[in-house]
Amino acid sequence: MEHRIAGELQQLRREIEECRNCPLADISPRVVFGEGNPCAIMAIVGEGPGEREEEEGRPFVGRAGALLNTLLAAVGLRREELWITNVLKRRAVKMVEGKATNRPPTAGEVAVYKEYLERELRTISPAIVLCLGSQAASALIHPNFQMTKEHGIWFTSPEGRKMMATFHPAYLLRLKGDRREEVLRQTMDDFAAAAKEYRALSRGEAMEPRKRSLVGGRARPSVGASS
Ligand code: URA
Repeated sequence: MEHRIAGELQQLRREIEECRNCPLADISPRVVFGEGNPCAIMAIVGEGPGEREEEEGRPFVGRAGALLNTLLAAVGLRREELWITNVLKRRAVKMVEGKATNRPPTAGEVAVYKEYLERELRTISPAIVLCLGSQAASALIHPNFQMTKEHGIWFTSPEGRKMMATFHPAYLLRLKGDRREEVLRQTMDDFAAAAKEYRALSRGEAMEPRKRSLVGGRARPSVGASS
């Protein structure tokens, strides 16, 4: 099973790499695909790769990635047991004085990469999706998502996945003082709620194998012991 999923993900990655009409293909040389456990119960979805991610070809490896790892560790999770990905699979950049600089993605760019993201999620079929930031939340939960009002709330996708959004680690890194403390606390609470749900589903799958098909549509390795 894991082999089949890994093969489908490999194929999807190749398609994105070979897509010459895809936005950003002409300015951002490297595809940054998702990584982690292809049978993960929980996926984490960010906005898109930055400079470090593009250099390394891996999602969330820069400063925002370091903070993500810290937030996960604080609630007893390791990124290896999850699937970590982004809406955009190439870095959105503009040239400023001859240097490639990050910029927010356009609606057209998000629309194209959202289709790839949906295929990625259908392949992995995680029971839980944690969106980091408004871009991922608007693409996957609903288009008018308001982070300050709706973070930490569980939504259900048409496929039956439990979806929640919280603040993006890069946003947290930009905040200062009391506001930073407040948003960090809210983000920690959201991560804790996601981890609790993750553990409940992991335990359920480990203890009652026949129920697995009700959760994610296929058997997965147990990850309960390590979380
Ligand atoms: N920000 C994102 O949204 N994704 C990354 O991979 C890194 C930073």
